[in-house]
Amino acid sequence: MKLNIAALPGDGIGPEIVKVALDATIAVCEKFSHELSYTYGICGATAIDRVGNPYPEETHELCMKSDAVLFGAVGDPKFDHDPSAKIRPEQGLLAMRKRLGLYANIRPVTTFESLLHKSPLRADLVKGADFMCIRELTGGMYFGRPQGRSEDGNTAYDTCVYSREEVERIITLAYEYAMKRRKKVTVVDKANVLATSRLWREIAKEIAPEYPEVETEYMFVDNAAMRLIQWPASFDVMVTENMFGDILTDEASVITGSMGLLPSASIGTYTSVFEPIHGSWPQAAGRNIANPLATVLSAAMMFDYAFGLEAEAGLLRKAVDASMDANIRTQDIQVEGEKPYSTSGLGNWIVDYIKRA
Ligand code: IPM
Ligand code: MN
Repeated sequence: MKLNIAALPGDGIGPEIVKVALDATIAVCEKFSHELSYTYGICGATAIDRVGNPYPEETHELCMKSDAVLFGAVGDPKFDHDPSAKIRPEQGLLAMRKRLGLYANIRPVTTFESLLHKSPLRADLVKGADFMCIRELTGGMYFGRPQGRSEDGNTAYDTCVYSREEVERIITLAYEYAMKRRKKVTVVDKANVLATSRLWREIAKEIAPEYPEVETEYMFVDNAAMRLIQWPASFDVMVTENMFGDILTDEASVITGSMGLLPSASIGTYTSVFEPIHGSWPQAAGRNIANPLATVLSAAMMFDYAFGLEAEAGLLRKAVDASMDANIRTQDIQVEGEKPYSTSGLGNWIVDYIKRA
């Protein structure tokens, strides 16, 4: 098969972790005789510094003609501490999501037995948690207009907007995934307060009967936030709007104790983007210490979701598991008394593993 991908390393640790994931991807393609072509593009703070735009036109064109995009992370503290900064790296990410039509952000949350002790929750609560958050990514308050300030600057407003089409496609997607999993969907909203949430719930109630095998649970977002820490194993597929999803997926990512290991896929109309859920960790940039596994697992999702290549995805996941079993781990997850590996050291080990497999 011919695979044509774009690599957008972004900022901070992005270049180091994307390099590892790309090396692993190259090794897998060699193993399975796929023809891989990849092209690098710039985005985020790096792109602001170079061309004054966090998502340059050239990068957009590259993404549009690629089958999939492997993405690192964007963000640089120099913009966070400058409230007057007109252009921010995050705007690049939002522009990319909107222009590529990436309406669904899929974050699988799985536990790793050997990392349970790293969870802020009791191990018995986290054990067996295995669910998928589906976050709507191109609507809601992030993109609703009007947004801004009154003339005197003393009043600010954001608008939350959802159309029937937007809600239908994401709810349907959630049911489709639930059919392939444990057949339970939790629709998270704030229908007791918000009009958009009432539309979500109304549409979910129309779609649910089309999937009689799937159990549907409706839950207010505040309750969902609580349930995530009380009983994470009770979820299978959770679906929610953009901002609720942003907040809940951060919460979900830490309960497993393995934030550096969680991948994500953003799927949509024109292409799909695969990226770790963690950020750009600017303090670690260039130090060769970041954990590249979430990005390697994102590449695994890419093989699965963008190309339907399950064996290839499986080999990447196996390599990740094997590295953990062999204690070839970066400092964030290394067991006490064992030597932590560098980003590239772990990357080399993974590539060797794939070649030997
Ligand atoms: C995320 C991030 C982004 C978001 C920011 C960087 C705009 O937090 O991908 O979850 O809020 O969506
Ligand atoms: Mn977020």
